[in-house]
Amino acid sequence: MKNPLFNISYGLYVVTANKNGRDNGCISDTLCQLTVEPEQVSLCLDKSGYTCEMIAETGVFTASIISVDAGFALFRNFGFQSGRSVDKFADFGDVRRVANGTLAITAGTNAFISVQVDKSFDLGSHVLYIGKVTEKETFDNSDSMTYSYYQKYVKPRPEAAAEVLVKGRNDEGQTVWRCEVCGYEYIGEELPADFRCPVCKQPTSAFAKVAMAAAGPDEPNKYAGTRTEKNLQEAFAGESMARNKYTYFADVASRNGFE
Ligand SMILES: Cc1cc2nc3c(=O)[nH]c(=O)nc-3n(C[C@H](O)[C@H](O)[C@H](O)COP(=O)(O)O)c2cc1C
Repeated sequence: MKNPLFNISYGLYVVTANKNGRDNGCISDTLCQLTVEPEQVSLCLDKSGYTCEMIAETGVFTASIISVDAGFALFRNFGFQSGRSVDKFADFGDVRRVANGTLAITAGTNAFISVQVDKSFDLGSHVLYIGKVTEKETFDNSDSMTYSYYQKYVKPRPEAAAEVLVKGRNDEGQTVWRCEVCGYEYIGEELPADFRCPVCKQPTSAFAKVAMAAAGPDEPNKYAGTRTEKNLQEAFAGESMARNKYTYFADVASRNGFE
């Protein structure tokens, strides 16, 4: 049975900050309204993120509420790369500068909320920010996207789930673990206790074992003959699997929209 915590429902947001004229933002699923009078919200971000650092220093952020109209490109731009190494707004024009100096995202979103941070709590890996709403606007009446909707309809289907299973037939006999949050796959018998998803920074508790290696030479491989396996055999005919696995998985990643 899956972890009951995975049954908690979340919305999705592009959280933006501006420090010394530099704009940045990330995807988060942790915005919550706490009180009505005054309107207070909380937001929890991973400390290693640049957006988290910028909010710690400036004390303000804007959360643009992602709608069901958003495509994966929005998530790829804001959720799978860090503003420490790229300018996420260099080629992203669907924005409006709002009163607190940050950028609200105007496409694939249905509203924005700007927040002045009053309190922050160090939670170890994350920082919890609590603050008051200083500005807000609804763009349209489209439905907000839930995390579950993102997983089902927006995130590229991880083809690797089936494809990595062919590893059950190679000499290495490794096991595959998938991050239930972002789909990243780790290949190895055991996840190191302190392992964290390199994409979304989740700890080992977010990983589920998706495939065990085939038990032995006598056990029929239930994935034999699949298109994926055939492609793999054709692509790497006559070459060693060990040598080519990196090229192969790079190709899988690329087809799923990851660099
Ligand atoms: C669907 C989804 C949900 C995410 N939720 C969070 C979150 O709640 N908190 C967080 O710190 N990062 C979350 N992330 C990961 C950040 O968006 C990601 O690490 C981003 O690259 C950080 O960028 P930055 O370093 O420019 O701030 C999420 C990513 C995705 C794709």
